[in-house]
Amino acid sequence: MPNTIIIGLQWGDEGKGKIVDLVCPGFDAVVRFQGGHNAGHTVKFADRHFALHLIPSGILHPEKQCVLGNGMVISPAALLEEIDSLEAAGVETDGCLLVSDRAQLILPLHAALDAAREEALGDEKIGTTLRGIGPAYGTKVSREGLRMCDILAPDFAHRVETRLARVSKILPNAAALLDETRDAWPEWRYRLKPLIQDTQTILNDWIDEGKSLLFEGAQGVLLDVDQGTYPYATSSSVTAGGASTGSGVAPTKMDGVVGVLKAYTTRVGEGPFPGELLDDVGERIRRRGNEFGTTTGRPRRCGWLDLVAVRQAIRQNGVTVLALTKLDVLDSFEEIPVCVGYRVGGKEIRALPADSEIVARIEPQLEILPGWNEETVGLEKYEDLPEKARKYVEYIESFLGVPAAIVSTGPRREETIAREHELLPGLAS
Ligand code: IMP
Repeated sequence: MPNTIIIGLQWGDEGKGKIVDLVCPGFDAVVRFQGGHNAGHTVKFADRHFALHLIPSGILHPEKQCVLGNGMVISPAALLEEIDSLEAAGVETDGCLLVSDRAQLILPLHAALDAAREEALGDEKIGTTLRGIGPAYGTKVSREGLRMCDILAPDFAHRVETRLARVSKILPNAAALLDETRDAWPEWRYRLKPLIQDTQTILNDWIDEGKSLLFEGAQGVLLDVDQGTYPYATSSSVTAGGASTGSGVAPTKMDGVVGVLKAYTTRVGEGPFPGELLDDVGERIRRRGNEFGTTTGRPRRCGWLDLVAVRQAIRQNGVTVLALTKLDVLDSFEEIPVCVGYRVGGKEIRALPADSEIVARIEPQLEILPGWNEETVGLEKYEDLPEKARKYVEYIESFLGVPAAIVSTGPRREETIAREHELLPGLAS
């Protein structure tokens, strides 16, 4: 049974939540390895609609284990809120959710620092989700952070005070925020104690027992702190490599990487976006695709599919199979351009440059493909797709040199065309 990594190949919001929900029956456990409640997954099935931020959509499958790995930054308050909302909707989390004792904490101080930094940056702001993600990774790397294991320590209050002594000097209201943390601690300790475990050892034990794990990435590779459009990036390792560092499972135990890409491109927050559609075509895509953030409600910026950026993400992450989502959003277009090359100042370049100011000057080279101008919503068989829609899928596969095992034609589980693939057991059965 495979251990499979699923990552987003664009700027997040590719529809990973639906894909993970769809494929997770073939796995024993779903593991998140980076990010925090900046992520948002929407899962729809039957008449129900779930918006998840921290907990993998595997939680909606009763027999699956869900693990929040050591690479994550977790707000205990947000986690408890999410557990409560799932339980209120009748979804059992008891016994199926584990949290790494090494995961970093997001405390109220981190969220306040996020807001203060964005404000200080003014026009240069990143457009973060204001969840405290960057400051929490910042204190992690400067070795001033607190982790889940600290919640279990009797001297938690002292640890908060000493570790955060330096950064708390930055904010005038830091004392009140640290008091808030100390006041909340008894409840965190009482409720989270059964969940906080050495998940690195547990995951490796499960692999030794022959169980198969699905590693669920949040955000997308173009937001990765190393590979993404820095500084307009998130602060975590979104990449396939991040699945190892963020879970404690060696790269040699991973069997492959599934890349999720949307049939067009979106981005939320600031930062360069070659080919962004600022006209009514972008607005049409946004409305039809319901491109508004699950976490912040912000309208997403839209553009045609950028195959150059996706090809780069595929190469750097060893992606061997695709899940193509939201094909149906393009149903009403006569023509569908895709970006197949980049030029800067008239000169051809092969990939996104390191400097975001140069990325902002990219002139996308477009290939115009015929639209199918016909409804595809809910189609479940590849051969039922209009011929031009199949041609669109096949153009993408051929440009990227990677096949699509999944083509999604709507938000619901059943609105999916699926083909067998060794990394996704039981998918087409
Ligand atoms: P942060 O992760 O809150 O620090 O935000 C940094 C950048 O990543 C901002 O542009 C956010 O809009 C973007 N971002 C963070 N999480 C997501 C996500 O789940 N989907 C899309 N964009 C995200």
